[in-house]
Amino acid sequence: MPILFEKAPGKIILFGEHAVVYGQPAIAIPVTRVNATARVIPDLASEHAGIHVQALDIGLDADLEALSADDPLAKAIRLTLEELALIHIPAFTLQITSTIPIAAGMGSSAAISVAIIRAISAYLGKPFPPDLVSALAYEVEKIQHGTPSGIDNNVIAYQQPVFFRRDNPTEFLHIEQPTHWVIADTGETTPTRETVSDVNQLITNDPVGYGALIQRIGSIVEAARTPLIEGDLQRLGQLLYENQDLLEELEVSSSRLEILIKAARRAGAAGAKLSGGGRGGNMIALAPEKNIAAVEKALIEAGAKTTLMTTLTPWRIDDTA
Ligand code: MEV
Repeated sequence: MPILFEKAPGKIILFGEHAVVYGQPAIAIPVTRVNATARVIPDLASEHAGIHVQALDIGLDADLEALSADDPLAKAIRLTLEELALIHIPAFTLQITSTIPIAAGMGSSAAISVAIIRAISAYLGKPFPPDLVSALAYEVEKIQHGTPSGIDNNVIAYQQPVFFRRDNPTEFLHIEQPTHWVIADTGETTPTRETVSDVNQLITNDPVGYGALIQRIGSIVEAARTPLIEGDLQRLGQLLYENQDLLEELEVSSSRLEILIKAARRAGAAGAKLSGGGRGGNMIALAPEKNIAAVEKALIEAGAKTTLMTTLTPWRIDDTA
C-alpha cells in the first residue's frame, strides 16, 4: 500500500463562542492556510503487527498500545478502528504534524482528530463521510475540553462556513459577497477547557445575569447571519464589537487582545473581536479590502506575533498570507 496523507484546516469563530456551549448559535469558517496533516506509512518490515504513532512536534514517538485511553491522538485512532471493525489491520506508522497554533482558538485539536480519522479510514479502504468524521472527532474533543459545543469538529470536518447550534443539524452558509478577515495571534495561550470552565462558574454563581448575557450573544449571532451572507461590513462590524463587549463581560478577553482590537479599529477595520476560547489566542478583524494591509501592519506594530488573512468568498474559502 502506498503512503497516504490527509489534511484538515484550522478554523475561526466569527460570532458566538462560549454562548454556543449553552445552546446558542455560533458562526465559524474554516481557515485552510493552516492545517493538520496525518500521514499513514505502511510498516511492511515490521516484526509485530501494530500501529506506531509519531507526533514529533510534541515529542510523541510510541506504539499505540502504550498510549493511555485518554490520550487524544490514541482516542481518535481507536475510535476509527472500532468504527471500521476490521478483522485484520496491517501494521503502519501514523505521523502527525500541524501548522495550527495550539490553544489559540483555531481548532488545532479538532483538526488533528479530523486528519487522523480521515487518513486511517481512507488508508484502510473506507473513507468516512464528513458527518461520521465530525461525530468521531467530537468524542475526542470531549476528553480534551470537557463540554465542547461541537462547533470545531463540524466546521473542520465539513470545511464550509457554518451556522451551528448544538443538537441541531449543521447549516451551511451560502455566501453571496466576499469579506476579508485578518487573524492576529496575541502569542498568549490559555486552554479552552480553562476558559469554558470559568464561564461555567460565572453562570453557576449568577444564572439569571449571565444567562441573559449568553442570550444576548445568541441574538447577535442571529443578527449577523444575513449581513455576513450579503457582505454588509458596517452592520457586521458593529455586531463584532458588540459581541466583543459581551465576551469582556464574560471575562474571557485579555489586555493584549484589547490592544490589538483597538489597533485594528484605528487602522480602519470595520469590526474586531477575540475568536475562540479567549484570554489570548487569536483575534479577528473584518477589513474593508482597501484597508487590509493597513490593518495587518497596525496589528504587528501593536504586538501581534503573526497575522494571517482569509477571504470568505461566494465560491470557496481563499486564504492568502
Ligand atoms: C472553542 O473554539 C469555542 C468555545 O465556544 C468552546 C466550544 O464551543 O466548545 C469557547
